[in-house]
Amino acid sequence: MSELNNIAIRILENGKGILAADESTGTMTKRLDAVKVPSTPENRLLFRETLFSASGMTECIGGVILYDETIKQVSSKKNTIPELITKMGSAPGIKVDTGAKTLAGSADEKITEGLDGLRERLKEYYKLGAKFTKWRGVYSISKNYPSRLSIHANAHALARYSALVQECKMVPIVEPEVLMDGEHSAKECYEKTSEVIKKCFEELIIHKVDLKGIILKPNMILAGNKSKEQISNDEVAKLTLKCLKNSVPSEVPGVAFLSGGQSEIEATENLDLINKYNDTNFIMSFSYGRALQQSALKFWSQNIQNIEGTQKIFNHRAKMNTLAAQGKWSKDLEI
Ligand code: 13P
Repeated sequence: MSELNNIAIRILENGKGILAADESTGTMTKRLDAVKVPSTPENRLLFRETLFSASGMTECIGGVILYDETIKQVSSKKNTIPELITKMGSAPGIKVDTGAKTLAGSADEKITEGLDGLRERLKEYYKLGAKFTKWRGVYSISKNYPSRLSIHANAHALARYSALVQECKMVPIVEPEVLMDGEHSAKECYEKTSEVIKKCFEELIIHKVDLKGIILKPNMILAGNKSKEQISNDEVAKLTLKCLKNSVPSEVPGVAFLSGGQSEIEATENLDLINKYNDTNFIMSFSYGRALQQSALKFWSQNIQNIEGTQKIFNHRAKMNTLAAQGKWSKDLEI
């Protein structure tokens, strides 16, 4: 087994998943504003350190995606944040794209930037302890979108990023996110997501990326959040599996879904059904941001010194998702 394949599997094995705590300072400020906590570097660290030192990390969280600010911060016990995460039995990772900008030639769409100088930044993150990285391409569905241009340009960037990351001995998370915003049907989400993922693999192969040493982070197949035709959780799970079976090469060791605006319970329930029906060899786990942190953040914002209370809520969500990643969750386990 190659070292990269080994890392990818260790992050996702036995129901473990990924905590996506890589909100940029802008996004984290929005999240903290919403719960009326001042967005200072100290408060951002306090919340994140509270989660990273929770007992649920060891059993449930195989990797944590960090933002540039956090990977360079020092915990209250004087460990660097990557040291703290490693001590908890998890792997530190880092978001390395620099955000989605207007795509020249298709101004309503986005292209993710960050390739210039990436090799040098990767070397620095590797020295800081990162074992894996994340880059997110983003696509929205409407009448003429995503365009061929956006599908091609984002796949190309994801492939160039992945090749550089593997050169620097880390596992790239390849995240093509087809957004749930809009009026589109689940069928349209299925078709567009399939096209986007197939194009990504076409480019990854051209760029000689070792598919055994990546983690795919896709969206689930959902109807748009403004669509009148919502589908059942059962259909979400079956369509998601069908899409991945038809578009992901068998060498890929694992898939870690994003939550993308689903509620905490919805994200858990859909992941559980995907695993109950999973007849592939892919590990199907989670890489949730909001669906792992929302309740913990709400509680913490009102009880900022109550570390144990915040950790209890986080531990529960992490445990529920770890059960779901093994198809062993049920609604009556929720509190
Ligand atoms: P959500 O689970 O909140 O969608 O975040 C995952 C993520 O990392 C998006 O890039």
